[in-house]
Amino acid sequence: MKHLLKMLDLTTEEITDILNLADQLKYELKHGIEHKLLAGKTLGMIFQKASTRTRVSFEVGMYQLGGLPIFLSASDMQIGRGEPVEDTSRVLSRYLDGIMIRTYKQSEVEDLAKYGNIPIINGLTDFCHPCQILADLMTIREVKGCLDGLKMCYIGDGNNMMNSLIVGCLKMGMAVSVACPEGYDPDQQVLDFAKDYENFHLYRSPKEAAKDADVVITDVWASMGQEGEAELRRKAFDGYQINKELMSLAKEDAMVLHCLPAHRGEEITADVFEQHAGEIFEEAENRLHAQKAVLVKLLG
Ligand code: CP
Ligand code: NVA
Repeated sequence: MKHLLKMLDLTTEEITDILNLADQLKYELKHGIEHKLLAGKTLGMIFQKASTRTRVSFEVGMYQLGGLPIFLSASDMQIGRGEPVEDTSRVLSRYLDGIMIRTYKQSEVEDLAKYGNIPIINGLTDFCHPCQILADLMTIREVKGCLDGLKMCYIGDGNNMMNSLIVGCLKMGMAVSVACPEGYDPDQQVLDFAKDYENFHLYRSPKEAAKDADVVITDVWASMGQEGEAELRRKAFDGYQINKELMSLAKEDAMVLHCLPAHRGEEITADVFEQHAGEIFEEAENRLHAQKAVLVKLLG
């Protein structure tokens, strides 16, 4: 594994390795065992979009591993004034040991990897959010004890979260049912990948998708960059909410996850959110442990 660009690139073994290391690092952190596995290493973190969890967990993770994180706001960099990605990448490759980038186009992340010669980590694009999905898989495995054979149901927008969850969960042997309104389907690349899996189903009806699910997941209806469509999307996603009624169709002990930030009253009701807050905030914490595992694998 040279980079973390998208879930489609990872093998089941690579995902399992990352999850195992993440569990170990979490256990060791809780027991005061320190490993400065990235002493002397530097990670540049380029942000073209806002972030709370990704930024803080990467910074803290690098610090805990003995390395140095450098926050690079794209609006303060020459890349924000049009310097090409291929030049930025070749320059940063000479200073840094790795780059994490959060941006719009997936092609920008792929280009950084193509032109530079250091590991690139995708911290979210419009296409996918692999760091989040590793934390989600870690959380599900922690609560349920396994992944293989479980059913993940995702209700809502065919966005970066849905794209990556479909791929990550199928690769880990889970059944995947998603429900989204027409016009908001997952990316074609993801549908092409999923078509070989008998345990993948795309529904228009949230109720059908949620039936007997072990894990129910959602995300905002309007992602970063789609703020102007918020009103239109609120209408399009009417009925695609995780609420008590929908949860009554899932298994009795079903988990609920949300990558956050959440919009209570839109994609999830406040009562379901609070009932599952323990899982949701464990998921947020697990960003730290899963990303440390990725950093060790790529930069260590
Ligand atoms: N879930 C997630 O990526 O959160 P941030 O946007 O706060 O980084
Ligand atoms: N789909 C959301 C995820 C935020 C972590 C977005 O892209 O804004």
